[in-house]
Amino acid sequence: MAEVKFSEEAYKKIEELITRYPEGKQKSVLIPALHIAQAESNGWLDVPVMDHLAETLNLEPVEVYEVATFYTMFNLKPVGKHVLEVCQTGPCMVCGSDKIIDHIKEKLNIDVGETTKDGLFTLKPSECLGACGYAPMMMLGKNYKEFLTIEKVDELIEELRKQDQ
Ligand code: FES
Repeated sequence: MAEVKFSEEAYKKIEELITRYPEGKQKSVLIPALHIAQAESNGWLDVPVMDHLAETLNLEPVEVYEVATFYTMFNLKPVGKHVLEVCQTGPCMVCGSDKIIDHIKEKLNIDVGETTKDGLFTLKPSECLGACGYAPMMMLGKNYKEFLTIEKVDELIEELRKQDQ
């Protein structure tokens, strides 16, 4: 198995994060460091990547696993280039997120948790993303897409497809 290595820039960012906390408290950077590791690893974290991060932060691997497996923002299996994280909690559901999810499933011919064959899209349900006033909504990368309608979802998917042509 190939040895895991992050980019120099990634190690520098992690080092810089560590300097923000008292000595020996490097575990405090675990969440941002997991984001860095995920970005360095095609958007998902496998065990060797988490082990390498544990080594980098001088933590036990299990300390990394328990955080990575708790938060849905960390992907533990390969994902597409664009991850459509549709909120399915109460307020979004009442405003039609189930119809949005069904539409995406049909349009992309994938089920929840799956990735399209071309590797472009993953549909991932999410719990409340703290934007209930804009329901129904989804997270796409670092952006929120709000007041979703079927038409808006179609436009968004077409826009993303064009970007990748
Ligand atoms: Fe969807 Fe809160 S319920 S953002």
